[in-house]
Amino acid sequence: MENIIWSTGHSLLLDHIVRAENCYLYDRDGRRYTDMESGVWCTGIGHCHPAVNRAIRDQSDKIFQSGFNYISPIVEKAALRVLEIAGFPGGKCVFLCSGSEAVEFGVRIGAVVSDKPARLTFADSYFGAYGQATHKQDPDWIRYNWLDCSCSGSGGCRATCKEFAAIPFGEIGLFLFEPGSSSGLVRFPSTGLIEKVCAKVIENGGLLMVNEVTTGAGRTGKWFGFEHYGIRPDIIAMGKGIGNGYPVSVTAVSEQVAGRAGQEQYAVRTIPPERSSGCFGGAVRY
Ligand SMILES: Cc1ncc(COP(=O)(O)O)c(C=O)c1O
Repeated sequence: MENIIWSTGHSLLLDHIVRAENCYLYDRDGRRYTDMESGVWCTGIGHCHPAVNRAIRDQSDKIFQSGFNYISPIVEKAALRVLEIAGFPGGKCVFLCSGSEAVEFGVRIGAVVSDKPARLTFADSYFGAYGQATHKQDPDWIRYNWLDCSCSGSGGCRATCKEFAAIPFGEIGLFLFEPGSSSGLVRFPSTGLIEKVCAKVIENGGLLMVNEVTTGAGRTGKWFGFEHYGIRPDIIAMGKGIGNGYPVSVTAVSEQVAGRAGQEQYAVRTIPPERSSGCFGGAVRY
């Protein structure tokens, strides 16, 4: 591994994996290993799933990339299906490449449609490798430590402590919740706490965003981790399992947020025809 920047932070244990199938990895000598991590928690329905591979192969023979001025109906079809499982009829989504981008995009939409600058998240949440993830120390982020408050029992905060009471809900434009924190340990905050936080945020005009990069695509037994809580998000970030290893991610927003974002000229961008026609990268009809 002389030419690879090994940036995972973990030791490299196997450097000759040449093939994978379902939950197994095979090295060049034919030795088989069980992949207990599903890649990086991506191949939820197994490595090299025949249906996924077939779809990728078929599509790669048709069109693989769309441009600024054209798109394929397959993208709309995928978007409709995503919005259906997300419970966002009339909503909108965007396809990106990594979970980090999906979270970043969602946070930015939240900032565009909300007039309140503060954002709330839990201290142990992980957003991704760049963007807002590296700016969680910014004053706009309120990072609540649900594991270490004065009312904390074995299940974490019960929302009866002075620390919870001190959260300035009136200033919060967005609550970014990761249903099953993945930084170091997988921990699930109690339903009572999440429902109380969400109720307070909504009551004060804030938005709910869920980061489903690791908990989405059926990984917790439901399509999304938030479905284990009685909450309805406005924005959902998806990644990893949504492509089963193929690098695709999605940010989906409810109809209401899409409408508000459109009014802010963010999600709906119109380029005048005189600028788009004939410009570099534009499509020419034959
Ligand atoms: C909860 C969570 N959100 C976002 C990300 C970022 O996803 P990606 O590595 O695809 O950029 C990760 C990655 O591990 C994650 O665990």
